[in-house]
Amino acid sequence: MNVLHGGKVVTAIDIGTTKICVLIGIADGKGGIEVIGMGTAPSHGLKKGVIVDIGLTVQAIKIAIILAEKNSGLTVGPVVVGISGGHIQSFNSKGVVAIKRRDVMPDDIERVIEAAKAVPIPQDREILQIIPQYFRVDGQENVLDSLGMHGIRLEAQVHIITGAVSSAHNIITACELAGLKVEDIVLEQIASAEAVLTDSERELGVGILDIGGGTSDFALYRSGRIMHSKVIPIAGNHFTNDLAIGLEASLKISEDVKRKYGFVTEESYINFDTALLELTREVDQKVKKVELYRVYQVLNPRAEEVFDFLHEEMMLYHLKEIMPLGLVLTGGGALLRGMEELAQTILDIPIRVGIPFSDSDDNALLVPDSIKSPIYATGYGLLLYAVRGQQAVSESLKNIPIMSRVLHRMKSWIYEYL
Ligand SMILES: Nc1ncnc2c1ncn2[C@@H]1O[C@H](COP(=O)(O)OP(=O)(O)OP(=O)(O)O)[C@@H](O)[C@H]1O
Ligand SMILES: [Mg+2]
Repeated sequence: MNVLHGGKVVTAIDIGTTKICVLIGIADGKGGIEVIGMGTAPSHGLKKGVIVDIGLTVQAIKIAIILAEKNSGLTVGPVVVGISGGHIQSFNSKGVVAIKRRDVMPDDIERVIEAAKAVPIPQDREILQIIPQYFRVDGQENVLDSLGMHGIRLEAQVHIITGAVSSAHNIITACELAGLKVEDIVLEQIASAEAVLTDSERELGVGILDIGGGTSDFALYRSGRIMHSKVIPIAGNHFTNDLAIGLEASLKISEDVKRKYGFVTEESYINFDTALLELTREVDQKVKKVELYRVYQVLNPRAEEVFDFLHEEMMLYHLKEIMPLGLVLTGGGALLRGMEELAQTILDIPIRVGIPFSDSDDNALLVPDSIKSPIYATGYGLLLYAVRGQQAVSESLKNIPIMSRVLHRMKSWIYEYL
């Protein structure tokens, strides 16, 4: 039976900047899934969602797989793996040609788009899609359809979307070196949205911001599709690094302090067990006392930076009007106290924190408490994605090895972007 559709064992791997998470589930054949086991391992081979050390990544995947197998009593089969939004980038470019026969013909349009395409693209990237935005015929600007227009000079502005195909290959290679067969790769933003957004939110217009360790990935859904996406290069690790500098403590201590005492709005201050922290100074190992308020002073500007970044993007592209249901925060960074309130103040839209949920009435298919955390949004979404067969691999492509299908898969996500 087919693993993606047949109600058998399904395995998802979220290869994150801070952790590798393996989830094993059993599909019920009707689009639902029962989570049977989970394994996580700290991840040290990635920077900003991109693999920089395959060996370390393979080791961590192996550990997470062993734990998930032990936890579930099952052996993993083919896996569905996530790829970070940072692998997709886009920019605008212009091209100019002479109109050959004074009236714009289809071949003029082809040539001008070719000319706009002729820009240096980094070696590890491939063009996934080119979207003509507007044309200019002689002095006439903002022409949407230039065919048949009279003139001498045709100019086009195109939006070029590229994908880091070699990085996707690295993810597949790491899984294969860990002894796994990759059934499919999925953009992490699409997976997280699957886990934490409702169908009606996606239909009416909502944003999702996955604040991970390395990056905060934004996607805007409307009419059931992704309309806009942006990777914000600030996330949980930056908060921890700031604390390490601000408190002169080690990264380990700073991470613990952030989780236990971190807050980013004055209103989110709760009665912690102390108002004074005793921390070991990294440089000389001396113990010093730090007021808890200092933690807020360090974390607050960083959190504001994340939401200011998003606010600017929303203003630039007039996104607020098309996301009436507001923004859903997810990823481990959404656990920091006060993030929800701060986002609400800066963005002035409804905000909620998204945790994996199940829309099934069947008790067996409910999400287990152990993964009801924004940290597992991507992993659970990957499982759902695999089961529901969204963007199912077309029949003709099923027998082609995933490595040869990567470019096709990446292009299929972009179709969703339009
Ligand atoms: N309780 C908590 N309070 C504050 N921050 C937290 C908490 N728990 C986890 N985090 C932070 O969440 C981040 C990890 O989130 P997540 O697991 O979603 O990232 P990832 O998937 O590994 O990374 P990425 O998606 O960027 O590749 C870390 O920076 C961690 O410090
Ligand atoms: Mg993540």
